[in-house]
Amino acid sequence: MDILLSTLYSSEEQELYVLDCMAYFMVFMAACTFVTLLFENVPYGRYATSKYGFPVNARFAWFVQELPAFLVPLCLLLWTSSSKTSLLPNQLLIAMYFCHYVQRSLIYPFLIRGGKPTPFASFALAFVFCIYNGYMQIRYLGHFAEYPAYWITHPCFIIGSVLWLVGWVVNLHSDHILRNLRKPGETGYMIPTGGMFEYVSGANFFGEITEWAGFALAGHSVHSSAFAIFTIVVLASRAVAHHKWYCAKFENYPKSRKALIPFVF
Ligand SMILES: NC(=O)c1ccc[n+]([C@@H]2O[C@H](COP(=O)([O-])OP(=O)(O)OC[C@H]3O[C@@H](n4cnc5c(N)ncnc54)[C@H](OP(=O)(O)O)[C@@H]3O)[C@@H](O)[C@H]2O)c1
Repeated sequence: MDILLSTLYSSEEQELYVLDCMAYFMVFMAACTFVTLLFENVPYGRYATSKYGFPVNARFAWFVQELPAFLVPLCLLLWTSSSKTSLLPNQLLIAMYFCHYVQRSLIYPFLIRGGKPTPFASFALAFVFCIYNGYMQIRYLGHFAEYPAYWITHPCFIIGSVLWLVGWVVNLHSDHILRNLRKPGETGYMIPTGGMFEYVSGANFFGEITEWAGFALAGHSVHSSAFAIFTIVVLASRAVAHHKWYCAKFENYPKSRKALIPFVF
């Protein structure tokens, strides 16, 4: 794989420059996505329409679209000279990334209960995003990122890591609550209760945003920040859309519940 990278890039400086450009482009795409989502709901789940391509089975779509987010980084770590993987801050950040994506790509798809099919366009975009982001995060952390020796005792790293862990647990717990609203074979919607759903309609999104914001704080790079920004844009819009949808569908929907940020928004 090193041979492939050396045919793509004439030097390490050039590859780092490309990784930086990829991060800035992700921020640009987040801004474009934000504007688009002001006018249109993400075409998936309860909002899916045939306008965005033929439906792909939910379990198949989640497994295939998320797999590159695990496989691309794994190949990079196994088959390229990842010179920074011996350093503890890099190891911890890479471990955070893998904890999330092992669950998301290899476990989450097989737990889905009655998920709506994903339109092909959403599936294809998620697939491309997972390759793009997997390469950007892990190539940077594995081969380029340099942190001072004291970094793991720095408040940014400690607070970021705690946020990452709390966010991950909230995300897993909230997805578990959603899953258990349906009995096997059911496909309808109920009011979620318990955990962070007592405070917000998008509890799973709140967890995932906290997770990647923590990762960005601990990682302190344009690459991790770009991923956090993109996640905020995509998931905040889903939380707002779900909140409006619940309020319109259920007369008894809890009035004090917010969309995404407890007590605030
Ligand atoms: N990092 C990122 O950029 C990113 C992007 C997208 C998703 N994600 C993560 O991926 C996970 C899933 O995302 P998502 O957008 O699919 O979440 P979602 O809309 O909350 O749906 C999750 C699952 O729960 C079901 N569900 C949702 N609300 C329900 C209700 N009230 N009653 C019964 N079942 C319900 C859905 O079924 P239906 O399919 O039938 O609606 C789906 O199977 C989340 O943890 C999210 O944070 C991350």
